[in-house]
Amino acid sequence: GSIDGGCPVPHDGGVRALLGRTNKDWWPEMLATEILNPNGSTNPYGDDFDYAEAFNAIDYKALKQDLTDLMTDSQPWWPADYGHYGPFFIRMAWHAAGTYRTADGRGGANSGQQRFAPLDSWPDNGNLDKARRLLWPIKQKYGRNISWADLFILAGNVAIESMGGPTFGFGGGRADVYEPERDIYWGSEDKWVNEGVQTRIAPDHGMHELEGPLAAIQMGLIYVNPEGPGGNPHDDEGMARDMKETFARMAMDAEETVALTAGGHTFGKAHGNGDPSTLGAAPAGGDLVAQGFGWVSGEEHGGIGEHTVTSGIEGAWTNTPKEWSENYFRLLLDYDYELVKSPAGAFQWQPIDQKEEDMAPAAWDPTKKVPTMMTTADMALKRDPEFRKISEKFRNDHEAFKDAFARAWFKLTHRDMGPKIRYLGPEVPEEDLIWQDPVPAGTMPSDALVAEVKAKIADSGLTVSQLIKTAWASASTYRKSDHRGGANGARVALEPQKNWEVNEPAMLAKVIDTLDGLRGDMSLADAIVLGGVVGLEKAIRDAGFSVDVPFTGGRGDATQDQTDVDSFAVMEPEADAFRNYVGKKKLAVKVEEMMLDRASLLGLSVPEMVVLVGGLRVLGANHGERGHGHFTRRSGQLTNDFFVNLYDMTNVWKATDDSDQEYVATDRKDGSTKWHATRADLIFGSNSELRAVGEVYAENGNEEKFVKDFVKAWTKVMDADRFDLTYAKYHK
Ligand code: HEM
Repeated sequence: GSIDGGCPVPHDGGVRALLGRTNKDWWPEMLATEILNPNGSTNPYGDDFDYAEAFNAIDYKALKQDLTDLMTDSQPWWPADYGHYGPFFIRMAWHAAGTYRTADGRGGANSGQQRFAPLDSWPDNGNLDKARRLLWPIKQKYGRNISWADLFILAGNVAIESMGGPTFGFGGGRADVYEPERDIYWGSEDKWVNEGVQTRIAPDHGMHELEGPLAAIQMGLIYVNPEGPGGNPHDDEGMARDMKETFARMAMDAEETVALTAGGHTFGKAHGNGDPSTLGAAPAGGDLVAQGFGWVSGEEHGGIGEHTVTSGIEGAWTNTPKEWSENYFRLLLDYDYELVKSPAGAFQWQPIDQKEEDMAPAAWDPTKKVPTMMTTADMALKRDPEFRKISEKFRNDHEAFKDAFARAWFKLTHRDMGPKIRYLGPEVPEEDLIWQDPVPAGTMPSDALVAEVKAKIADSGLTVSQLIKTAWASASTYRKSDHRGGANGARVALEPQKNWEVNEPAMLAKVIDTLDGLRGDMSLADAIVLGGVVGLEKAIRDAGFSVDVPFTGGRGDATQDQTDVDSFAVMEPEADAFRNYVGKKKLAVKVEEMMLDRASLLGLSVPEMVVLVGGLRVLGANHGERGHGHFTRRSGQLTNDFFVNLYDMTNVWKATDDSDQEYVATDRKDGSTKWHATRADLIFGSNSELRAVGEVYAENGNEEKFVKDFVKAWTKVMDADRFDLTYAKYHK
């Protein structure tokens, strides 16, 4: 339960709403632009705008030079600390990328979401509105050739390079969107981090149970509270635990966490030289005249420059805040620290008896020296035994630190871009990295080979159900959020996917062995998808239709060595409504919401989701021997029976028990049992929008339309990850 009774987070294992709190909850008065775009915003460049092509045409060198010049071009409305915006842009890029979470692949830098609520208004993104506005002249100049999303990350890279820091490369290709993503869960908390939610963190929001899939401890944070867990600077253990857990959810291990934090804080300063209570609303709730700026200070000096308040913490980490150096670890490890408060009242740590040469220049007066500082989070890099070992290693081996920082920064900022073929531009590193889920290039099978393998699959004794389930298991892991998963690579035949319960390991092994034995020169990945084609074509023929199922080969097969088992483990479905599967783990949201979430990650529309579920049920794609939702007397034929029988008013539906998970239909007249169903079946009758679409498929005369629409949606899922085809033209 929650302390104030109003917190909708299911701490006790209850069920939450799929999207938690949304922009409309935070800012009820926000202009409802979505009424003009009920189906999602349109791209002002036009629907056929090809950003990859536009990016490839850019004068990349000139762009980087303009960004380099910008770093030291201080503007009066937001003057640069030390005359250099570099650290500010690094923080902007890090916060753009740091919302990424491995569980669903959402968040991250790849669509420029920092421009929109809620991210533009998260307390943790304080004053980054100014960083983005500083970039506007460059965005304006290069226009369609550089997206905001790419610009955020490239500005971070240029910032590091312009201060002498190491980078590993840059891949462009992050296409902008023009509205906040509406499919993402940012949490259910009803207060921001700085609004007193901290006092509630202890029992309810304890880090051991950081709410999945979030990568932040509290609403409005990218990661952790810098002053300590719940604002407590003395909880060393809790601090390290929070950092490890949140960075793990960004796919970072302890070494990467230390390298990133230390490398980042080699630069710049924290801002807390003023009274935070005078700060105005965040951008999303700001005044019209503020023109998108938030946190406008009510103090006479305007709260800029010397008087800036962002986190409330004040001071630089090193004595050389606009240069890459070895000073972070030196100062962290060589000095003892005492707890002090910033002028804004935040807890921070100050070196005891700091030598003058180790002090930082004042940001506004290079002749003046001020003590450096560390946040409670930085102190964890020294106090936590595991972090400390790494800190000492990096202190003694600066080259190792440089390499680790450069690689971790590259991973942080590219992790959500998917296969390497999606990276564009002259600075894409040659080296393949395991977190890119590498797949060796495949070869396009000849028509003759395809025909031969098809014939062999048809004769193999594998059933429609087995072929369909296996192809679905292979392809349906794809997620458009970070472009991971999918049929390419045939990772369904490797650890860990081959042992996922949802995939029915014994059945799967049998199908894969059989396909492997007959595929000849064709890749296993292609053979699995082709198996689906064979199964589907049979089901269509048996139902009396003649509709072809397209097949595009050319997939490659990954090896176990090219597969990071831990990184794939987080992708295991806890439920899959398409296979009517629910695992043993208690779900945080309802089964039908999990279905919506998976459909969204697959990039499906409502009609595509509806037609796929309806078709998969009659094809016998259910997990195991489950008969739920199998509303047909001619199993294995691709018919619209699911919808026809679901909407049949002779049925009376009842829950089988109090858990409200399974249902039985009896005949209204004689009471005989007719069908069994789950929530993921009945939702197509109870939800008026899903029903409206399902009714179309149940209508007389639409039987063939149903088949054709199913084939289209199925093929879309099978080919969802074929960047090897679509991106080849950008790499000539
Ligand atoms: C600034 C916390 C990780 C780069 C800051 C500030 C805080 C903070 C409180 C001050 C913001 C302000 O008042 O202006 C943390 C915590 C981290 C973390 C708690 C992890 C546990 C990182 C990482 C990077 C980074 C991974 C980049 C690789 C920076 C930079 C600044 C900064 C460059 C200075 C910005 C400026 O000078 O305007 N961080 N940070 N931080 N952070 Fe971090």
